[in-house]
Amino acid sequence: MPEASVIADEKTVNFGHRWWHRWFRTPGELHELGVVGINMRNARFLLPNNPRRLYELVDNKLRTKALAEEHGMNVAETYGVVRNPHDANRVEKFLGGNESFVIKPTRGSGGKGVLVIDGKNGANFVKPSGTELTPGDLRNHVTNILAGLFSLGGKRDYALIEYRVLPAALLTALSFQGAPDIRVVMLHGYPVMAMLRASTKESDGRSNLHQGAIGIGIDIATGVTVRAIHHGKPVTKHPDLGINLIGVQIPEWDTILRMSVTCQEMTGLGYLGVDIMIDETKGPLMIEVNARPGLAIQMANGIGLMKRLEPVVEEHRRHPTADLAAKIAFSKKHFRAKLPTA
Ligand SMILES: Nc1ncnc2c1ncn2[C@@H]1O[C@H](COP(=O)(O)OP(=O)(O)O)[C@@H](O)[C@H]1O
Ligand SMILES: [Mg+2]
Repeated sequence: MPEASVIADEKTVNFGHRWWHRWFRTPGELHELGVVGINMRNARFLLPNNPRRLYELVDNKLRTKALAEEHGMNVAETYGVVRNPHDANRVEKFLGGNESFVIKPTRGSGGKGVLVIDGKNGANFVKPSGTELTPGDLRNHVTNILAGLFSLGGKRDYALIEYRVLPAALLTALSFQGAPDIRVVMLHGYPVMAMLRASTKESDGRSNLHQGAIGIGIDIATGVTVRAIHHGKPVTKHPDLGINLIGVQIPEWDTILRMSVTCQEMTGLGYLGVDIMIDETKGPLMIEVNARPGLAIQMANGIGLMKRLEPVVEEHRRHPTADLAAKIAFSKKHFRAKLPTA
């Protein structure tokens, strides 16, 4: 993209970087790039397409998992659900001998309260960062989850204990001791943008960008990674591992696209984000569905969502009954990643 078309103010011109090296943008530039902000997301895409009553299906991870299984998708096996403080003392009872597991609030978001446990050291539980939790620490965490400390609206919650995904080897290489997950944003069942989120030392086994994870844009057409951001700034290598993040083929890409479209069909939500993880032996697993997916995916892909949402709105108007295969074919054809030109 020529500099002149994206640079509006004097200060940024003086930086002299090519546009994708400069992460700061003026509001005018953002508009030009088709970047969708939170108000526009809500007003134009969330409110008209996501009826309130459908939120309950995805704001509760237990319900989403049950729904996904009904639709033939694989999910991370649920080991147990802690529903009261009494059971908070007996987490191990639910584990059935499994030493690695994940505990999370059933109604959490943004990675808050998600605790990934890799294994045990004596009586202690070891996190991906190597930090150990005593059984007392674990109990406190569960108690906090039950009290609603991490949950939507701060209401009382349950703690979900589930299988800890063991990521495919290719993906572990990209992620600091955590399992990367794949986020696909969809409108009307059309995949519009995707990213791989890889954990860092800082994000402690979670791949939420707000926890310090890296967002890596994925080409919808091919499943190959195209660019990456960390704390909002472009990077090409993993900050802890030094490994190259670009040009990596995500395995089972077609399965992932099909699962994403199925998540739209099963929830009825018009605008959503689907989180999928790829397990070494179990393959792609549906982790959760978000009715208010974040907007950083645009930065990870270096393209504004508007450039993809508008063509989908138009296509959906023309073919309101398009099926899964037609939607995937449309997205692959029209949303092929373009490499930036200087
Ligand atoms: N079963 C799991 N195995 C391994 N990592 C997980 C698992 N569940 C969640 N995580 C990690 O924690 C992050 C947040 O979990 P998620 O279920 O998406 O909750 P939230 O709604 O808070 O984003 C995921 O992006 C993933 O990196
Ligand atoms: Mg998530």
